[in-house]
Amino acid sequence: MSGSESAPSPIDTSRPHPARVYDWWLGGKDNYPVDEELARKILAADGTAVRGARANRRFMHRATRAASEAGIRQFLDIGTGIPTEPNLHQVAQAVAPESKVVYADNDPIVLRHAEALLHGSAEGTTDYVHADVRDPETILRLAGEFLDFAQPVALSLVALTHYLGDAADGDDVYGLLKRYVEVLAPGSWLVLSQVTSDISTEGVQKAAEHFRRSGTPFYPRSLTEFSRFFDGLELLGPGVIPVYGWRPEAEDVAAQAEGIVPVYGGVARKP
Ligand SMILES: C[S@@+](CC[C@H](N)C(=O)[O-])C[C@H]1O[C@@H](n2cnc3c(N)ncnc32)[C@H](O)[C@@H]1O
Repeated sequence: MSGSESAPSPIDTSRPHPARVYDWWLGGKDNYPVDEELARKILAADGTAVRGARANRRFMHRATRAASEAGIRQFLDIGTGIPTEPNLHQVAQAVAPESKVVYADNDPIVLRHAEALLHGSAEGTTDYVHADVRDPETILRLAGEFLDFAQPVALSLVALTHYLGDAADGDDVYGLLKRYVEVLAPGSWLVLSQVTSDISTEGVQKAAEHFRRSGTPFYPRSLTEFSRFFDGLELLGPGVIPVYGWRPEAEDVAAQAEGIVPVYGGVARKP
């Protein structure tokens, strides 16, 4: 494990955590009563939450497979989440067993489960960094011990940017992403998804309010705001789109029949 800059805090079961709430929507077992309570409240406000989580996870699979099939062999996945099979390294290493994957997350529960993320293929390798996405220096330095940033990397922040505010909120999510992208070699990919209130507007606004009240800042973004993350990059087809529509497979087309989900996805290449 590449490690962490500071000792991880213990798992706090007194308030809900996003990784554990998402785990409940995905049908996982790594969540506590406080997480289930918030997950159910949000689901009651926005009936798309469970389908949205599943659709988002499948978007990650397809985008990772596309990067692998395009020849990318190095992956940096920030905001990894609690392991849910298949994990990103399993998708990448199914295409190219020698693929190297570095995961990063700041939640102590993800660190506790990191072992499950560290079993790569015999030829490939995986590593884990316990750090906050808002600390790019640490993540890039530790990831750089494992990945060669002179070669293309697929950088993914999947369902993460909605927890990060703009400059006015103190996070400067656009500046932060720029900082990550500027170290990437030409030919690298950026894979992003995040919640929008363009779709299911009332439900998403209520869900955001539930998150905020529980202590987790939450920032749905419009199509224009989300698309700005890809400025200066070449968006790959079909562009920025609700996640079901990003190079869908039969299962996604069938799932979309149940209704669209308020999660945008996009993938771009650094020229
Ligand atoms: C909704 S989950 C998404 C998991 C996975 N990327 C996926 O899409 O299936 C969001 C993840 O981002 C992590 N996260 C939230 N804020 C973070 C931060 N400031 N730094 C690093 N990770 C963060 C959470 O701990 C959680 O694991």
